[in-house]
Amino acid sequence: MESGMPRTDGDTSVYPSHVMKTASPRVLIADDQPDVLEALRLLLKGDGYQIESATSTSGISDALDAREFDTVLMDLNYTRDTTSGAEGLELVSRIHAMDPMLPVVVMTAWGSIELAVEAMRRGARDFVQKPWENPRLLSIVRTQVELGRSLRKEQRLEAENNLLRADGRPTLIAQAPAMQPILQLMARVGPSDANVLITGEHGTGKEVVARMLHALSNRASKPMVTVNVGGLAEGVFESEMFGHVKGAFTDAKTDRVGRFELADGGTLFLDEIANVPLTQQAKLLRVLETGELERVGSSKTHRVDVRILSATNANLSEEVTAGRFRGDLLFRLNTIEIQLPPLRDRREDISPLAAHFLNMHAKRYRKHLTGFDGAAIQILREHPWPGNVRELDHTVERAVLMAQKSTVAAADLGLAATSTGGLQTPRLEDMSMEEVESFLIRKALRRFGNNVSQAANALGLSRSALYRRMQRHGI
Ligand SMILES: Nc1ncnc2c1ncn2[C@@H]1O[C@H](COP(=O)(O)OP(=O)(O)OP(=O)(O)O)[C@@H](O)[C@H]1O
Ligand SMILES: [Mg+2]
Repeated sequence: MESGMPRTDGDTSVYPSHVMKTASPRVLIADDQPDVLEALRLLLKGDGYQIESATSTSGISDALDAREFDTVLMDLNYTRDTTSGAEGLELVSRIHAMDPMLPVVVMTAWGSIELAVEAMRRGARDFVQKPWENPRLLSIVRTQVELGRSLRKEQRLEAENNLLRADGRPTLIAQAPAMQPILQLMARVGPSDANVLITGEHGTGKEVVARMLHALSNRASKPMVTVNVGGLAEGVFESEMFGHVKGAFTDAKTDRVGRFELADGGTLFLDEIANVPLTQQAKLLRVLETGELERVGSSKTHRVDVRILSATNANLSEEVTAGRFRGDLLFRLNTIEIQLPPLRDRREDISPLAAHFLNMHAKRYRKHLTGFDGAAIQILREHPWPGNVRELDHTVERAVLMAQKSTVAAADLGLAATSTGGLQTPRLEDMSMEEVESFLIRKALRRFGNNVSQAANALGLSRSALYRRMQRHGI
């Protein structure tokens, strides 16, 4: 995530090592005898592990609070002349309660099998007896590291289930000449790890492009996690994005993985990025710069390797000038910028898009429709489409439901004749509240050339309230 530059080949050296999830596993070793620690350090270093050590139970706790480890290898006795193992056992229980996914391997003296069994009962995953045999110790550590990693992954996958849409490539129809440079750019930057900012009016297909970029990348087998960051309330922003630990606040009954961690190894799509308030922008920036975050309520640092795609229909440079958006954050986000043209500037795509939506909705509603009749096509081509592709999608969906013959007729579209630009004034008394609202919003948008801020102002709504309503009405 850190590297702004597109990756050109399989070389991962452009990444600073701290964002590499595949960095060598980190093992915490603990014993009160320095010579034991030294021997373990040499042995494990030689096998490619990063080692930290502790000489007391409080040292172990501190290290675990500060960092993420793949495995803990610990002795059970820390006070001179004790062999009961009580201190160590106590700590094993505590570690297991705090982080059941963290593999703990205990070391015991030869012959004290009962102690090892007790440790396992309290949550240790394995044990080694001292003096140990090097190959056996290495094999235990290796197994536990791998097991721990796959358990963590499973925990993440489970959390992802609710978030993710069906994967596979989205359909992106783009035959118009205006779309060709965009397709070329996508083909070039898709496979890279470059952060991409996607801009364009509402409904132009920003999310489709984001999904396509993810599908083109070598992260495609990993999740793409989408967050409407503009819609997150101040109070939940941090916990949603970075996660929290149990007890961090009143409602935090359990640990929670944040969206950044869910997207680890994959792509994080930050939608409506312009609507993020400045205080939260600062928090995002920090993670984007360092690749590190802390869950709310914890001081432990987690590393994440995430590619960031973001989208907005605002002009972020203008937002920066106006002091509403941080320039340094924009700089992180827009390594590459893809600007999607409105549908009215790519009219060649109207027919293929309409045909695609007709197919889709006819299948869904089990209707046998072969296409549009001539007059219907004409209206579709001439309509100004202020709501862009999404408006076309919804129009076709409605027409599919309305159609009585095997082709969609002009009347089924429910669009006005072209001279009124699709917004003929209907009789208010014939409309539902919903329709009136939709009508007023469309009208305001047209009046202000689709400038959402000005339209919101005229309607007496906040920008985000207007966005929500537009989304609801498919504008
Ligand atoms: N080029 C395209 N080909 C096929 N379908 C498209 C295309 N562009 C957009 N769509 C469809 O149109 C709808 C709106 O697209 P999308 O949600 O990506 O727009 P958006 O730019 O993110 O809009 P918003 O700013 O309102 O979030 C979706 O149903 C999407 O599948
Ligand atoms: Mg969108």
